Amino acid sequence: MKEDLDLGKMSRMLSPRLTVLVTCAREEGRPNIITLSWTMPTSIRPPMVAISVGKRRYSHDVIKESGEFVINVPTKDIESEVWICGTTSGRKLDKFKETNLTAEKPKKVNAPCIRECPINIECKVTGSIESGDHTIFIGKVVALSADSNIHTDGIPNPINGKILYWRNGTKEGDTFYFTK
Ligand SMILES: Cc1cc2nc3c(=O)[nH]c(=O)nc-3n(C[C@H](O)[C@H](O)[C@H](O)COP(=O)(O)O)c2cc1C
Repeated sequence: MKEDLDLGKMSRMLSPRLTVLVTCAREEGRPNIITLSWTMPTSIRPPMVAISVGKRRYSHDVIKESGEFVINVPTKDIESEVWICGTTSGRKLDKFKETNLTAEKPKKVNAPCIRECPINIECKVTGSIESGDHTIFIGKVVALSADSNIHTDGIPNPINGKILYWRNGTKEGDTFYFTK
């Protein structure tokens, strides 16, 4: 039996979702990290990807101004750091310091990659779309690196249930979900 739900529960019905850490930086000043679950590949040739960022997030303004971002795919090993980056704001906090995550030199953008994440996708913003209280930033992929342990010829290995999926929990312990 199906029941009608509050429309506001829509995004919960589209979960679990892959969870990533997006890094961004202005030319001057400290870089920031935001946890995101609303991401989507949007083109194969050229490779493009979209992220949806709340207009009130600090990262929203940084990405808008700098025109670039990096998608870093985390694992279970840094689950609590992912939680911190998704519940605190870079407006007040240096999240690299707070989490001890390591900023790694990017190849084609200014925003750093995160060393502890086995996949780093560097993107330049080519457009944006207003979507209610979020902005969808569309990024052209300009560099892609992945730990050789996590893929075979570009096809990801199931890395032992370590990839994080958001399942809309309200506290750290019940937020993530893992698949084999
Ligand atoms: C698991 C998880 C997923 C999230 N996904 C998104 C998302 O897709 N888009 C978004 O705008 N905020 C998302 N958030 C909320 C932001 O990460 C959060 O508001 C963060 O504190 C904003 O940081 P900032 O102010 O430094 O940009 C998510 C939070 C968590 C914990």
